[in-house]
Amino acid sequence: MIKGMLLSAGSAHKQQKGDEFAAVYSNITSYDRISDDYAANWRKSGDLIERLRVAARRLLSSERNKNSVRHLDVGCGPGHVIEWLKPLSLTSVGLDVSLNNLRNARKGTGAHVVLGDATNMPFKDKAFELVTGSAILHHIYDWQMAIVESCRVCSPEGGVVYDSEPTVESLDLSPIARAVFEARWPVYKLLSYFLPSKRHFRNAQLAKQYYYSAEVHNQPGRGISIKEVEASFGRGGFNPEIFLSPSIQLTSREQIGAREAGWKRIVLQVLSGHDPRAAKYGSFTVLARPVSITEPTGK
Ligand SMILES: C[S@@+](CC[C@H](N)C(=O)[O-])C[C@H]1O[C@@H](n2cnc3c(N)ncnc32)[C@H](O)[C@@H]1O
Repeated sequence: MIKGMLLSAGSAHKQQKGDEFAAVYSNITSYDRISDDYAANWRKSGDLIERLRVAARRLLSSERNKNSVRHLDVGCGPGHVIEWLKPLSLTSVGLDVSLNNLRNARKGTGAHVVLGDATNMPFKDKAFELVTGSAILHHIYDWQMAIVESCRVCSPEGGVVYDSEPTVESLDLSPIARAVFEARWPVYKLLSYFLPSKRHFRNAQLAKQYYYSAEVHNQPGRGISIKEVEASFGRGGFNPEIFLSPSIQLTSREQIGAREAGWKRIVLQVLSGHDPRAAKYGSFTVLARPVSITEPTGK
């Protein structure tokens, strides 16, 4: 019986390693192909840019961070976040698994770039004062480990921010909502001829590979669990603060306006019997500081 248990634990481990590898492989092959388009046309929202700046400034508000700040952007892609944070005069390093993304990040921002996996970062402990990641955790099979690693490489004077991650609730879609969501491919293909942000949908096969296997946790029925985010930061010795459907200024709120929710969220959440304005049915941002900073010892 023990042998049977060991064998099934062994095959579960093998399955997990296989799933992890598949997610990394899919991200490498997708981004190596779409990096130029991704750099030019994706993630251009001014709100997104401003929110990341607000988050970084909040984490770096300590007097100790007034001098040169070492910044790591995890899953840097072609360098969007590094570019957005330029007004903060940081010394930035981008980490990614896609070489073409890293080449674009270096060319576009002049930052140092490193090829590596977020779940096993090639950096020493406490190497950075600021660790950022935008729209990255849901691309990583073992995203909990990426959080623990982010805490390890972050110095006690610094902080970590992860932004643009889908909640579990936002992807808890009814069968009818899933069917409507699945029907989007031909519509998006048509839009690809008019909207630069939808250009990648012209090659439906590549777009499907990207959405189904690179965005491994951004699928109906999945998402990133807030409880597990809190537990993972706890494992890393950090204290997280979560903002659901975050405003630009990162305030906590229960509900958002219908216009802010956007048509896609309204359609999918209403079809799932949810109130689309409820904050939990959107993305989230998490800011985290070391426990030693957030909980003074009273000395
Ligand atoms: C949605 S893109 C976000 C890129 C960038 N943060 C931005 O805001 O444009 C996700 C990025 O995560 C990278 N990525 C996926 N899995 C990774 C891993 N295990 N380690 C490091 N980077 C990874 C992908 O190559 C891609 O560049």
